[in-house]
Amino acid sequence: MKVWAYNGAVPGPEIRAQQGDRLRVTVENGLEEETTIHWHGVRVPNAMDGVPHLTQKPIPPGGNFTYEFDLHDAGTFWYHPHQRSFEQVGRGLYAPLIVEEKQPIKVDRDLTWVLDDWRIDSSGQISGGFGNHHDSMMAGRVGNTVTINGRLPEPLEVRSGERVRLRIINAANARIFALNFEGLRPSIIAIDGQPVPPHEPNGPILVGPAMRVDLVLDMTGRPASRSRVTDDFYKGLEYALAEIVYTRSRLRAAPLAASIELPANPLREPQLNGAARHEVVFGGGMMGMMSGGGMMQGGMMGGGMGGMMGWTVNGVSATGHVHEPMLTIPRGRTAVMNLKNQTAWWHPIHLHGHSFRVVSRNGKATAHKEWQDTVLIPPQETADIAFVADNPGDWMFHCHILEHQAAGMMATIRVS
Ligand code: C2O
Ligand code: CU
Repeated sequence: MKVWAYNGAVPGPEIRAQQGDRLRVTVENGLEEETTIHWHGVRVPNAMDGVPHLTQKPIPPGGNFTYEFDLHDAGTFWYHPHQRSFEQVGRGLYAPLIVEEKQPIKVDRDLTWVLDDWRIDSSGQISGGFGNHHDSMMAGRVGNTVTINGRLPEPLEVRSGERVRLRIINAANARIFALNFEGLRPSIIAIDGQPVPPHEPNGPILVGPAMRVDLVLDMTGRPASRSRVTDDFYKGLEYALAEIVYTRSRLRAAPLAASIELPANPLREPQLNGAARHEVVFGGGMMGMMSGGGMMQGGMMGGGMGGMMGWTVNGVSATGHVHEPMLTIPRGRTAVMNLKNQTAWWHPIHLHGHSFRVVSRNGKATAHKEWQDTVLIPPQETADIAFVADNPGDWMFHCHILEHQAAGMMATIRVS
């Protein structure tokens, strides 16, 4: 299958560094179109953020660009183009960026699973039609073939008693995963690279596009047994994503006792008292008329697919990457944003340059005020996020279903 690739592989090369390191990466563009690289989730200086025209000139075919920045946070991150990303990412341009803690937790193995979802045609090639209207106005480009680290899933061989840190990265354009580890009791230790108090999920583990979840898995199955990892996000389309296969011998009888709690990253704590509050409404898409707003005038009332309506943030459907800021936040201030999904679809909403706390959902406080950089919001639900705007510049704020982003669900937030 023909792909677009970093250094000839999908995923591209895993970059591993240590917290506090300075990273320097030179990108040579061998594509026939412009590109950039965005370091998803990394709190980089604005000029290194890889947003075409907003933070840099796109890299022309045959050109190059050197990114250089300090890694303040340990965690699981990834990198991908921000130019026509619905096609560039969709064809295979993505890779993990792992920043190790200075004192990592004790595990037997540290594994990364980069999940992707491809739409493959009957000839075995990536099917075209990137960014078509149907995908754009509905769930995005959901494919027909899921891969782990660029391959059809192969059984994961483990030893009974082994402790594995599993870093899951969803690099798909649009597919959402809801993962179940049959027979195991996974502990979530980080979300979007940021530590969270270790806890067992109370249901399937939801991983929206661009999100990361770090798990600690104690392999408590018997030697020579098997169990499955299933994905049941899309009702009626449940499938086994992977199989865990135990070797015949046991590594240890009882799980390791060592702590799995990660040290905090140096994020500034938002001050909710007296913070400025902003409402952000996401609208549009098929059946957007149910949510009112500016969508009524479009061509959709006939029920056809022909309407040229886009997705909106606070009523604006953005084109290109350079826009009037939706919001300007004085540097150093806490901002609280009440995100309202008024559409019939899920949206993973991503903010550049910062991590935020998800303080509540549908008005109810979250269990861990999770630090995230991408928050998955179900249809007709809300999420409140809070962060200290401590990174100056113009930052993208957009849906990471890449077709939704391209069809207008993006905005800019200025920190000055
Ligand atoms: Cu991973 Cu603006 O994106
Ligand atoms: Cu979306």
